[in-house]
Amino acid sequence: MTTHSGVDAVVLVGGKGTRLRPLTLSAPKPMLPTAGSPFLAHLLSRIRAAGITHVVLGTSYRAEVFEEYFGTGEAFGLDIDYVVEEQPLDTGGAIRNVADRLRAPDAVIFNGDVLSGTDLGALIGTHRSSGADVTLHLQRVADPSRFGSVPTDERGRVTAFLEKTPNPPTDQINAGCYVFRRSVVETIPAGRRVSVERETFPGLLAEGAHVQGFVDDSYWLDVGTPETFVKGSADLVRGIAPTSALEGPSGEVLRLDGARTSATAKVYGGTTLGARVRVGERAEVEGSVLFDDAEIGEDAVVEHSVIGKGTKVGAGAVLRGVVLGDDVEVGAGCELLNGARVWPGARLAAGSIRFSSDA
Ligand code: GDD
Ligand code: MG
Repeated sequence: MTTHSGVDAVVLVGGKGTRLRPLTLSAPKPMLPTAGSPFLAHLLSRIRAAGITHVVLGTSYRAEVFEEYFGTGEAFGLDIDYVVEEQPLDTGGAIRNVADRLRAPDAVIFNGDVLSGTDLGALIGTHRSSGADVTLHLQRVADPSRFGSVPTDERGRVTAFLEKTPNPPTDQINAGCYVFRRSVVETIPAGRRVSVERETFPGLLAEGAHVQGFVDDSYWLDVGTPETFVKGSADLVRGIAPTSALEGPSGEVLRLDGARTSATAKVYGGTTLGARVRVGERAEVEGSVLFDDAEIGEDAVVEHSVIGKGTKVGAGAVLRGVVLGDDVEVGAGCELLNGARVWPGARLAAGSIRFSSDA
């Protein structure tokens, strides 16, 4: 395997994870458990597998949580540096803010909420062989309006960068992974908020810098919304999404320590059952993430949902595509559908709530 100890990795993990509230009230998005490990552990495992060992985490929101878990990085075969922004500096500001920690001529920058199977060695190879100032990993997606749309010319050079625009010129999007020459990082203004997407990339293109595209069609998913978070977790459990942090795919269900399901319960679709979770008789749980100590009552149905730590779902309740925070109690027979989110500690009395698509 090619190793790339000659580059640094920078992971941006300072966002507030607003779209994943209430889960991100207690943990930053990259630390949410996915297939039994913090999401970031999967990304770091891919970085390590590419032979990169020096990683700088650009943190801001809930900064301390990262160092508590990953420490020096030694246990993960990495050497991790932490840089904290007192005030969030946005993506470009965060990259500039770590410049003095970079050791190599090139740095690979990662958004901290992306699951990707791209060949990092090939990305770095393209950057070097094309002699680019910056190289962007690009992917084609069905709905490019939610991302940065990035057209390229016949030589693969980036011609424009349009962040979250209603009429994107191409379905080729910024996959949230870039190789920057360190000297280019140093040109980003220091000490203020800078958006790499809205300011740095358009600015580099306007100056005539060489920005290269690396188009790829391997597995790719931004897990920043409840729907994509549960999908990413299920894909990890089923071995569809790439990671080197798991011993192997678990198949239909990953059970953590002491999780127990009744004999007549059905649990499938890449569900993770956190430590000590209980699933009652005849309950059905599909493609969901149940945090530690969650309890699902008999005959309940839980599909594509996230169930917070210690949360109790009553008998016969139906949950489809919802997020429940920690220590929620959903009474028997409640029905919550399609994007409903319940804040930590809420109590929903038995039968007190019923959302249905035809209501
Ligand atoms: N350190 C730091 N400071 N990190 C930040 C800050 C900040 O102020 N703001 C955001 N981040 C981190 C987030 O934690 C996340 O890992 C990453 O930057 C991207 O932020 P998101 O909030 O997830 O952005 P997005 O998903 O809407 O859009 C970005 O990613 C898309 C691909 O997933 C953009 O880069 C798009 O162009 C791209 O297509
Ligand atoms: Mg994102």
